[in-house]
Amino acid sequence: MGFTEKQEGLVKESWEVLKQDIPHFSLRFFSLILEIAPGAKNMFSFLRESEEIPQNNPKLKAHAVKVFKMTCESAIQLREKGEVVVGDTTLKYLGTVHVKSGVKDPHFEVVKEALLRTVEEAIGEEKWNEEMKNAWGEAYDQLAEAIKAEMRNHH
Ligand code: HEM
Repeated sequence: MGFTEKQEGLVKESWEVLKQDIPHFSLRFFSLILEIAPGAKNMFSFLRESEEIPQNNPKLKAHAVKVFKMTCESAIQLREKGEVVVGDTTLKYLGTVHVKSGVKDPHFEVVKEALLRTVEEAIGEEKWNEEMKNAWGEAYDQLAEAIKAEMRNHH
């Protein structure tokens, strides 16, 4: 069975919750990334410069929102078309940016873990379940695959 309407609904519903406090959830997302992989700090320009994770940093928020939102868009595409299609220009840019920043394939697993934990915290332990975890996980994995494939064309 492909990606269902129910799965799409679960992802959209929790993205609505994240959207209500982007400054907080962006910060949580990055704290979790660094908790899982402290070494990732040096890849991000806005983290390299300071000891602490900067509060209200526009670049930090932009990256968090891109990951949340593009994963949500992937869920919609998976349900509608059965696959994730990132526009050519966007995909090329994503390939270049990540290769240039020193991002490697295993980093995508770190970001996935941080994303799932951020969503879990946002919607609360009671509402969080396997189904929601799988829906976000699958949408993220397919998006990550598209970016990783593009990264292989950029070295
Ligand atoms: C930059 C999206 C995964 C590290 C960017 C940018 C986008 C983006 C759109 C351009 C700058 C911006 O608009 O904020 C995504 C998406 C991802 C993903 C959609 C996964 C689905 C990752 C992973 C890492 C990473 C796994 C490494 C842990 C970076 C770094 C930059 C960047 C270091 C440069 C930012 C800077 O230093 O200012 N990403 N990214 N990204 N990304 Fe990602």
